[in-house]
Amino acid sequence: MARKIILDCDPGHDDAVAILLAAGSPEIDLLGITTVGGNQTLAKVTNNARQVMTIAGLIDVPLHAGCARPLVRRAEVAADVHGESGMEIHGFELPAPSVAVEPGHAVDYIIDTVMAHEPGEITLVPTGPLTNIAMAVRKEPRIAERVREVVLMGGGYHEGNKTATAEFNIATDPEAAHIVFNEAWPLVMVGLDLTHQALATREVEQRFAALGTRAGDFVVGLCGFFREAYREAQGFDDPPVHDPCTIAYLIDPDVASTVPVPLDVELRGELTAGMTVADFRAPAPQDCTTSVAVKLDHEGFWDLVVGAVERLH
Ligand code: BDR
Ligand code: CA
Repeated sequence: MARKIILDCDPGHDDAVAILLAAGSPEIDLLGITTVGGNQTLAKVTNNARQVMTIAGLIDVPLHAGCARPLVRRAEVAADVHGESGMEIHGFELPAPSVAVEPGHAVDYIIDTVMAHEPGEITLVPTGPLTNIAMAVRKEPRIAERVREVVLMGGGYHEGNKTATAEFNIATDPEAAHIVFNEAWPLVMVGLDLTHQALATREVEQRFAALGTRAGDFVVGLCGFFREAYREAQGFDDPPVHDPCTIAYLIDPDVASTVPVPLDVELRGELTAGMTVADFRAPAPQDCTTSVAVKLDHEGFWDLVVGAVERLH
């Protein structure tokens, strides 16, 4: 049975690839997409989601816009890695979006969808700041026991990128992350330790170019901008394509191996606000509900993404 997911995102180059991977994978039943302010303003990332969904042919999947800013802190977008639009592209003309934004708030859509399904049916996949998810579980606490698991891109147990210790999605809204990490639902943190292994090398880019399709050319265009931005901003030769690692894990857990470990989010540290803290001092207790992704099968991962993009015409 395909995994029923709601993808909560802030496209974003790598969010875009996550959407394509979900759309082109029979193992995933993409029920809906929700957006949250993060990489760029809510208006921009929602417009980007519409364009990606148009390329992916996701005409019947509902799109809902959510929270425009973090719970407590000031919004700070990531124009240095995603550009002014949030999804700047090299050598590819984005289509006019043929997907509308549904009326109604993303938070209500998440609550209503989870409550309308059987317990254990829906998996939440956040790939942006956790504002919508935190709001949803505060508004309707019963979703915590109905959600099958939360598989999120964010954090890191050894690495940061927004600061030395904090990853962008968590650092943007640490209070929301604190809520989400401390709920009772099973939670898998697909953090920088894993996603920095998901490099879009020139060989990988070549595989998308060889598809000769609009979706393939779109990924090539995304990689082009992302490579330059990541080189300048963080000194990477090839860009790490974070967000689709969550979907890949759901398709095939062997592609991203995980270990159970207690996790929490630092809110107050002068140098560590937004840091995800993993307690590796002892084996995780039996009732531990959180785990972290540690090792990526690079080839297996890109096989999944290339295969999915190939299925989108
Ligand atoms: C995360 O931050 C965003 O810039 C990316 O889309 C990804 O979700 C990586 O730190
Ligand atoms: Ca993202």
